Amino acid sequence: MDTVSRNDLQHHHGGRPERDFARLSVEPAPVVDFSVNLNPLGCPDLVRSRWSEMMEGIDRYPGLEGEGIARYLQERLDLPEENVLGSNGSTEMIYLIPRALGLQRVGIVSPCYHDYYRASVLAGAEVHRVRLSPDTEFRPLSADRLSAALSDADALWLGNPNNPTGTFFSRDVLSELAARFPRKRLIVDEAFMPFDEDWEKESLAVPPLLPNVLVIHSLTKFYGLAGLRLGGVTASAEVIERLRRFKEPWTVNSVSEALAPLLLECGDYDTETRRLVADERSRLHAALENVDGLTVFPSRANFLLCRWDKEPELDPLLRRLLACGICVRDCRNFPGLEAGYFRVAVRTPEDNDLLVEGLASLDRG
Ligand SMILES: Cc1ncc(COP(=O)(O)O)c(C=O)c1O
Repeated sequence: MDTVSRNDLQHHHGGRPERDFARLSVEPAPVVDFSVNLNPLGCPDLVRSRWSEMMEGIDRYPGLEGEGIARYLQERLDLPEENVLGSNGSTEMIYLIPRALGLQRVGIVSPCYHDYYRASVLAGAEVHRVRLSPDTEFRPLSADRLSAALSDADALWLGNPNNPTGTFFSRDVLSELAARFPRKRLIVDEAFMPFDEDWEKESLAVPPLLPNVLVIHSLTKFYGLAGLRLGGVTASAEVIERLRRFKEPWTVNSVSEALAPLLLECGDYDTETRRLVADERSRLHAALENVDGLTVFPSRANFLLCRWDKEPELDPLLRRLLACGICVRDCRNFPGLEAGYFRVAVRTPEDNDLLVEGLASLDRG
């Protein structure tokens, strides 16, 4: 494992095409944004149709602890109240967990979402990375490799599926890992798990819960609600109690609080989303594989990691794509992905066709 410097506390997020236009000196114009990984269907219809009902409580303080979101997670996962806590997006939990648990030394399976590192460093922890490798197409590490990483740390973070690689760890492997180290914590970010057709079989948040596993949830990705910020965590009653003691009050606003339980009524939308993502991911993967100079990595998520090998630099490709109205996530600021990597979201069939056509037209010269 590599020890990591504590210097990189900047934010590393996609979803800001204006920054790419400025950096690459391209005249700003509307784009289809493949750099964000939200539900391609947009938010469920009831968000608009029942908006005035949700607005009714805004003159009062919401619940102290995001109880509306906790109710959603309890029902969705069939868990008792003592195992669930709601939050302002999963981000609040990513930052609360290392602080509240007083983590000193953590392992991070990487390349991965930058905020596991940032939150750990801000909580005072030393960070080590255990790396997924391009030589194995970023496939999951064995239980032994993960064990070596965890044996040397208080806790191990991993995304499942992992952003930006789309790597998927089976519930069996992670359960075995957790059982080997009952005194250590496994922090599993399942922000993208709801997109998976097998989520009920694979999620570590479905009972029986494992006492040393914390699962982080995001509703903002799956329901296309990034601006409203809904998330949470499921864990043992003891861990939830500790997180409660450190959590700031009223972080979940009353609109999100009222909306979360209504999302339980969106069964058809949930099913349609999973089917669309599975179908479009395999279609997009196959089409992108045919683009000369492009390597596409296997993914179980609603996005695909790609590498551009045809030119020594990625910028000319990013510039040409922007000029075609396409923004992708430049991944060169993820440690290990400096050499021409970028990520694209799986979007609607029309948008995905635009991406394939854009890349194919560059290929034709
Ligand atoms: C892997 C992963 N986890 C968590 C988050 C944070 O999501 P939110 O706070 O909107 O739930 C993101 C956002 O991009 C992400 O990619």
